[in-house]
Amino acid sequence: MADTRANRRFRSQEWFDNPNNPGMTALYLERYQNQEFTRAELQSERPVIGIANTGSDLAPCNKIHVFLMDRIKAGIRDAGGIPMEFPVHPIQETGKRPTAALDRNLAYLSLVEVLHGYPIDAVVLTTGCDKTTPAMLMGAATVDIPAIALNGGPMLDGWWKGRRAGSGTIVWESRRLLAEGSIDYDEFMARVCASAPSLGHCNTMGTASTMNAMAEALGMTLPGAAAIPAPFRERMEMAYLTGRRIVEMAWEDLKPSDILTRAAFENAIVVNGAIGGSTNAPPHLQAIARHAGVELDVTDWERVGYDVPLLLNMQPAGEYLGESFFRAGGVPAVMGELAQAGRLHLGCMTASGRPLAEALGDARSRDEDVIRPHDRPLRTRAGFKVLTGNLFASALMKTSVISEEFRRRFLSREGQEDVHEARAVVFEGPEDYHDRINDPDLGIDETAMLFIRNVGCVGYPGSAEVVNMQPPDALIRAGVAHLPTVGDGRQSGTSESPSILNASPEAAVGGGLALLQTGDRVRLDLNESRLDALVDEAEWEARRAAWTPPELHHQTPWQEIYRTHVGQLGEGGCLELATAYQRIARDLPRDNH
Ligand code: FES
Ligand code: MG
Repeated sequence: MADTRANRRFRSQEWFDNPNNPGMTALYLERYQNQEFTRAELQSERPVIGIANTGSDLAPCNKIHVFLMDRIKAGIRDAGGIPMEFPVHPIQETGKRPTAALDRNLAYLSLVEVLHGYPIDAVVLTTGCDKTTPAMLMGAATVDIPAIALNGGPMLDGWWKGRRAGSGTIVWESRRLLAEGSIDYDEFMARVCASAPSLGHCNTMGTASTMNAMAEALGMTLPGAAAIPAPFRERMEMAYLTGRRIVEMAWEDLKPSDILTRAAFENAIVVNGAIGGSTNAPPHLQAIARHAGVELDVTDWERVGYDVPLLLNMQPAGEYLGESFFRAGGVPAVMGELAQAGRLHLGCMTASGRPLAEALGDARSRDEDVIRPHDRPLRTRAGFKVLTGNLFASALMKTSVISEEFRRRFLSREGQEDVHEARAVVFEGPEDYHDRINDPDLGIDETAMLFIRNVGCVGYPGSAEVVNMQPPDALIRAGVAHLPTVGDGRQSGTSESPSILNASPEAAVGGGLALLQTGDRVRLDLNESRLDALVDEAEWEARRAAWTPPELHHQTPWQEIYRTHVGQLGEGGCLELATAYQRIARDLPRDNH
């Protein structure tokens, strides 16, 4: 990349070195000087590098960043930049009620204000836990100053009784064992806690590892950044190198708009299929694309990604965890295998300053049991199906987690492969589900399909990870581990359930799911990518006419603001009005006095 050092004036100089307004310049200088900075350096032609710190005691998945800050700052200093760390509104997937999803757009908004309103020339986005990565990338895309992402890395592998215990995934397995009575409450707790042995984000290919792989696949990190486990020395080294690199990016003026192109998003979709990535990736990528001004549609996930083979053998779609993924070569190795098969756009610019082909070099799998070559995948056609029908305009199904048992039980019938007809059982949210799932009067047998609604962006609010509903205890004891489940919420990226989820529009805004009743027949046809209620037209329209929107109970001002402005998961769950603001760094805010 070209270094445009000659005649370069950074935006921070509008604060610290503005001869037209000495009064303001003095005010800006004196408060930054009373900490570690001198007038000489603030007025020098050195870029101020913001570091968005997503780690805190409230955000343990990202806490490692508190300790990586010194290394990031050392890199920035050594490359001639001025580091300024600032806090990000915490987004802790396992801590925030009613759901961390509500806070993605809040952290996004706050990041936009910070990057736009302070003397920052470029930014290191620290990422990790699920929503932190999209929130940071969405904000950087909106503002469009040079930006690079650095995740904290996954936890070390968890182990329980000689087997790998993966974050989240072990919860879903353990709750079945508890329901069937083969473990007790204490063992349940011990098993789940064994999956989290160190600082870091989830060690499975859940939403966190997925979204950090997406950041790397998009070109927004240094090569190899995503998979390094949090406690490894390579993580500290990557923090230092990222700090160094962002200073060069500031000089090169290499911005998100140079990196986040349509081709880069297509690469990310392909990588998502190959790693068995989370069903949360589509709304998050959609949101990043919309804030970057790139056309991306939920149906692109099936068009571009469905026939991608599963290469990575990592839970929940496979067996290994983060340490093995790293040792096998991480994201560059997966992308190297995909590139070899002609699956990637190799001309995309990356944060390294090199096009993808150069950034990848000759990266290939270093352990073919963990990262398979493209011609020997774990399964073929492992991407998402994007379904439609009279219940929703779009919903996703992750096909890489469809087990043989699930296929045999629900999707294989004589002459009609991949078709399933069932009786619907409908729940009005997770509380209703927990209250009634074991009620024998519901008549849930192994042919039923479970639905959950009013758990989308507006309904919940924020969209909850509740669609992977467990069958009634009696069915689990009889050996039925999964029933087909459908909903307008999401599910954890760590779930091995092939749910049909992210249904948009959601029931709370009048989507077709709102009209479904327990006892209705429904038909799933994966060949046609459809799910329909088999209810006759007149009856369906009568139900629509009788429908009234649910009363929404807002508990905080943000919940009300969010619900007023949020769009649907199929369009990224963005604050719709925010998508109109693009590349706003060019529009310098006024002085504050
Ligand atoms: Fe934070 Fe999984 S819960 S990364
Ligand atoms: Mg989750």
